[in-house]
Amino acid sequence: HEEFTKVKNIATIELGKYEIETWYFSPFPPEYNECTKLFFCEFCLNFMKRKEQLQRHMKKCDLKHPPGDEIYRDKTLSMFEVDGKKNKIYGQNLCYLAKLFLDHKTLYYDVDLFLFYVLCECDDRGCHMVGYFSKEKQSEESYNLACILTLPPYQRKGYGKFLIAFSYELSKKEAKVGTPERPLSDLGLLSYRGYWTRVLLDILKKHKGNISIKELSDMTAIKAEDILTTLQSLELIQYRKGQHVICADPKVLDRHLKAAGRGCIDVDVSKLIWTPYK
Ligand code: COA
Ligand code: NA
Repeated sequence: HEEFTKVKNIATIELGKYEIETWYFSPFPPEYNECTKLFFCEFCLNFMKRKEQLQRHMKKCDLKHPPGDEIYRDKTLSMFEVDGKKNKIYGQNLCYLAKLFLDHKTLYYDVDLFLFYVLCECDDRGCHMVGYFSKEKQSEESYNLACILTLPPYQRKGYGKFLIAFSYELSKKEAKVGTPERPLSDLGLLSYRGYWTRVLLDILKKHKGNISIKELSDMTAIKAEDILTTLQSLELIQYRKGQHVICADPKVLDRHLKAAGRGCIDVDVSKLIWTPYK
């Protein structure tokens, strides 16, 4: 059973104006076992076996954006919050789609328990999904992100770090610290490392005098452990008299900042209209 289900059957998908090669197996229902290509409605994410089915569907599908609330808008960039309980089919479709690009994540069929934050580029034809992250409504482990995906045609443009930044802005509004669910993929870890590094270096650079990991955590909503491992990897931590001490020599900070690459697309919090899930 295990072995059978792991064979990658869907090799390509059509989504909006893109044809995308898939990366991994995704457990679509058995009636799709014989398919090598699937056609997705880019708005409701229903998937079909044939192009003609999709064309017929597009004539009657009246969605022009993800279902749910637009909670952020900055020029052509929009974020929609989709409640998996209110939009079960959409949530499941999104999980099937995402799994095509995620190696080790178990699929959550229980989409009821999750909120989906779907990032879109908007134009006169509608809001086109570029990526998303999911978040448990309640997390015992202080996870603020479960899965994150930037669709391949949109990767390496800063959207991944924007999604990560957004997840921490939500945590700040909840007055909680957060951390991504583990394990992270290689690309996931690279993106997080990049985000944490830039955020922490920017603060250390501006800050005068001593600052503790706890203070950094309060300012950023990044979990203390993640701050510690990031600063350790940058060799900015010394262990003195049983305590971790941040040693931020301005020259060392500058060198790291240069190496840290591009910043991300900024999340303008004044454009985030959101209250925490209750
Ligand atoms: N090769 C090398 N480094 C890469 C990379 C690649 N192909 N893709 C991302 N990175 C690193 C870079 O450091 C990059 O920063 P830089 O461009 O400033 O150097 C950083 O990650 C983030 O880039 P960004 O453009 O913000 O991210 P993205 O939109 O490409 O999205 C992921 C990043 C992880 C969301 C995306 O790769 C993805 O969806 N992967 C598949 C799903 C997945 O693995 N999700 C994580 C599960 S835990
Ligand atoms: Na993840």
